[in-house]
Amino acid sequence: MNVPMVDTAAVGEPLTDVERLVDRKIVLCYYVAAMTYMVVSMLGGLLVALQLIRCNDLQGIELLSPGRWRMVHTNAIAYGFLANAFLGTLHWTIPRLTMRPVLNKALSYLIFAAWQAVVLATAGGILLGQAQGLEWGETPVWIDPVAQLGLLLVAVNFMAPIIASRGPMYVTLWYFMAAFVWTFLTYAMGNFVPQYVVCGTNAGAIGGLFIHDLVGLFVTPLGWGLMYYFVPILLRKPIWSHGLSLVGFWGLAFFYPLQGIHHFLYTPIPMFLQYGAVISTIAVEFVVATVIVNFFGTLRGSGREIVTNLPIRWFYTGMILYFITCFQCALQVTLTFQELIHFTDWVVGHAHLVMFGVFSQWLMGIMTYLIPRLTGKPWYSRKLCEWHYWLSVVGIVVMFLDLTMAGLFQGWSWSGMQIWDHSTQVSEPFWVVRIFAGLSMFGGFLVFVYNTIRTLSSPAPTRPAVAA
Ligand code: HEM
Repeated sequence: MNVPMVDTAAVGEPLTDVERLVDRKIVLCYYVAAMTYMVVSMLGGLLVALQLIRCNDLQGIELLSPGRWRMVHTNAIAYGFLANAFLGTLHWTIPRLTMRPVLNKALSYLIFAAWQAVVLATAGGILLGQAQGLEWGETPVWIDPVAQLGLLLVAVNFMAPIIASRGPMYVTLWYFMAAFVWTFLTYAMGNFVPQYVVCGTNAGAIGGLFIHDLVGLFVTPLGWGLMYYFVPILLRKPIWSHGLSLVGFWGLAFFYPLQGIHHFLYTPIPMFLQYGAVISTIAVEFVVATVIVNFFGTLRGSGREIVTNLPIRWFYTGMILYFITCFQCALQVTLTFQELIHFTDWVVGHAHLVMFGVFSQWLMGIMTYLIPRLTGKPWYSRKLCEWHYWLSVVGIVVMFLDLTMAGLFQGWSWSGMQIWDHSTQVSEPFWVVRIFAGLSMFGGFLVFVYNTIRTLSSPAPTRPAVAA
């Protein structure tokens, strides 16, 4: 297996000018925080999953109630794992792309500390029953202004080198700049507008936009931006078509923001908005196809790398799952399909596929590539890197198929006008399988954490462990 091990510079040779621009310590700090929150989130997921098969020995302990831990589960993933892993990786990529450091190193550490405080306070607030009544915006209201300020500082710190850079604007930077602006606006829209400005159906419509824009305008542009950066580097060739990469970017910018209302089809939200959401969702799938074609075009002639190069394998696995997710979206967004799957576990399966199968797996691939470069040490065990990959992929594929099937059975049960208990009875075997799938993902992640700890604590090699 050809996991690129370390930069030669990382094991004793002098750093080049570009390497000096990157503050490796902060990247590592973010990664350690991200890993911690992933473990917390997965424990929360398992707790909720056990409750659903009526296996909860913690009955009556409010602090550990599944209702609260479900929110900790999702918040720890979005703001704890994904945001931290992205922020860490941006500290690596932006200086390298712009040939400039971030605006201010002290500001980077301030943001890091403030962000951890926000995530911890959010988890604490949720557990103490202070959650804001907004899906994905459960951050207690008093934390929202701090989070909003944090997002502004993130944008300033990273945009400064991009704006000052005189080089060509590679597509990754387009995605990053858009993500900084969109995330700031999306957070403000979702957390303040329904709370203070509008109510009722209007607030619901804004909530729908917020839920989906968090995925489409925060996670997606950062994720694809990173793929456009890492894939050509690892495959040692340029992206197949720069023209197509711009089609992907502008298509996302144009169609994505309108989609969110597809979460609330068949509600009192005006039908023209619901139809608009359906059409823009289907349109974005064509855009996605151009992006996928571009990346597989880039892989052409280097297919063996999927077998030999572990980060590339993580990336392309995520891309295949991304394509499946988006294809699924184009179907499930139709009113006909919604009749069957709305409110069922189909949606939960879809959510896990995109959040874990795609974006988390990309980030884990990036970490697999970067951790040896950040530490100057090869992985403690390449075999454990493989175990991490296989346990994660098997776990998520089983969970996705399992919940998709559960969703169909639930939908058929409801549309057949069966009593409610019938739908929970047919779901139970699927919910048991979900536990095993979750344990596989959790096991894979624990292997990754163990491997990272052993790598960090191992002595630095005396001679360069040669890079790929
Ligand atoms: C140990 C593995 C995991 C287990 C057992 C698990 C289990 C669960 C359960 C039981 C729910 C609540 C479903 C419901 O309300 O009916 C849930 C929701 C969710 N989980 Fe997980 N989860 C796991 C890992 C993850 C990971 C790694 C991610 C993301 C990277 C994730 C993302 C989500 C999301 C986005 C939701 C909300 C779904 C929705 O509202 O439709 N989960 N999970």
